[in-house]
Amino acid sequence: MRILSGIQPTGRFHWGNYFGAIRQYIEFQHEHEGLYFIADLHALNTIRDAGVLRQNVQDAAIDLLALGLDPAKATLFVQSEIPEVSRLCWLLMTGTPLGLLERCHAFKDKKAKGLPASAGLFTYPVLMAADILLYDSNWVPVGEDQVQHIEVCRDLARSFNVHFGETFVMPEAKVVEDAAKVPGTDGEKMSKSYDNTLAIFEPVKDVRKKIMRISTDSRPMEEAKEPEGDHLYDLLKLVASPEETQEVAAIYRRGGFGYGDIKKRLADASERYFAAARERRVELESNPQYVRSVLDQGAAKAREKASEVLARVESACGIK
Ligand code: TYM
Repeated sequence: MRILSGIQPTGRFHWGNYFGAIRQYIEFQHEHEGLYFIADLHALNTIRDAGVLRQNVQDAAIDLLALGLDPAKATLFVQSEIPEVSRLCWLLMTGTPLGLLERCHAFKDKKAKGLPASAGLFTYPVLMAADILLYDSNWVPVGEDQVQHIEVCRDLARSFNVHFGETFVMPEAKVVEDAAKVPGTDGEKMSKSYDNTLAIFEPVKDVRKKIMRISTDSRPMEEAKEPEGDHLYDLLKLVASPEETQEVAAIYRRGGFGYGDIKKRLADASERYFAAARERRVELESNPQYVRSVLDQGAAKAREKASEVLARVESACGIK
């Protein structure tokens, strides 16, 4: 199977990115061919500062390597270093019904809030389809919020195949059930735009502070509670050992506990969970040449496949 996924360098990665997506990249790399990219062309829709974008791309590469992406097993590259993707995006755009894009949530949400949206944001799912189809990808590991975009990708691939003959491989979204929608500190989906994130590599003290401020309900202390669906417990489940998770579930069901203790356990467990990655990150940060060489080799490898697929698509639709 060929696995592909992308992540936007719009700020430091958070637990939603890790448990919803990055953790899957790392698991898949042992058994499948993996292509993972930093989606800087997408990020231009929100980041309008060249220095910030460059720094974010560098940070994203370091974060992914520190978290365990192994360049000997998987290919890591920067989206914009594969020019074929913009070309394929255009070819797909010509067959994209407007109504399909109008229904996509990134654009619809902004419009509903009366915020200005660019043509880039409107056509974003088409670029995402190009990202996926350009590499004959079979599986796309993502969080639940991206599933709609993968459906659009499948629609575009299907319609192209019907029109011009079998050209594209049909991709499939891979969502992990226990982390399809990681909650943020306020219980809503964890997202940079909701300002409710726990970043993976922010200083331990800051993460602790944010954890201690996680919103909770006003349940009296003696009252028992079902843990599943409580966002504090759902976060703990991600970073604690199965034994500790069970212990905490029992505490919830017994009642008579304070949320402060659970938050402390969550902070301790998260510190342990990301400790090794933190150490690797410090090393990688001091070796930017190595990081650059990984991205260069990744781009060269990705381009080989991209040019082969693009030639097939162009020939199918009469461009060459
Ligand atoms: P992005 O950068 O917003 O998020 C990266 C990945 O993290 C997942 N994610 C979450 N998963 C569970 N719970 C959450 N709270 C949470 N927040 C984020 C996202 O689902 C995603 O998998 N459009 C994509 C980037 C992209 C892409 C692609 C992905 C561009 N081209 C091609 C796959 C294939 C995005 O904005 O993800």
